[in-house]
Amino acid sequence: MARIRVVFESGEPERVIDFDPADAPFQHDGEPGSLLDVLLGHGVPLEHACGGVCACTTCHVIVMEGGQRLSEAEEDEDDMLDRATGLTPHSRLACQAIVQDPDAEYVVRIPRHTVNLISGHGG
Ligand code: FES
Repeated sequence: MARIRVVFESGEPERVIDFDPADAPFQHDGEPGSLLDVLLGHGVPLEHACGGVCACTTCHVIVMEGGQRLSEAEEDEDDMLDRATGLTPHSRLACQAIVQDPDAEYVVRIPRHTVNLISGHGG
């Protein structure tokens, strides 16, 4: 089993997802087995305005651990990432970064500005 720990800059409680990459895809958006696929398929919302086809930056995440065990970023992804807010050396587009090690642990940080799907009930 692979494991993804999801850390939210917004301060929401951390989530831990255990899964078998061989079961991908877990839903229909993004590359099968990508971080986006795994997160959405396990009830962790992540914006993905373009539907997971490397045409926006809303799925920007920061891979704090396990980055070398993801598929390498291709030119399209790097070009798109250049436009992301808060870019870091560990930034990836979640819809393109595919989990490649079935036994690895990954730690993925969700930047605050990308979390818009979750909102409080307001006043
Ligand atoms: S969802 Fe648009 S680039 Fe990933």
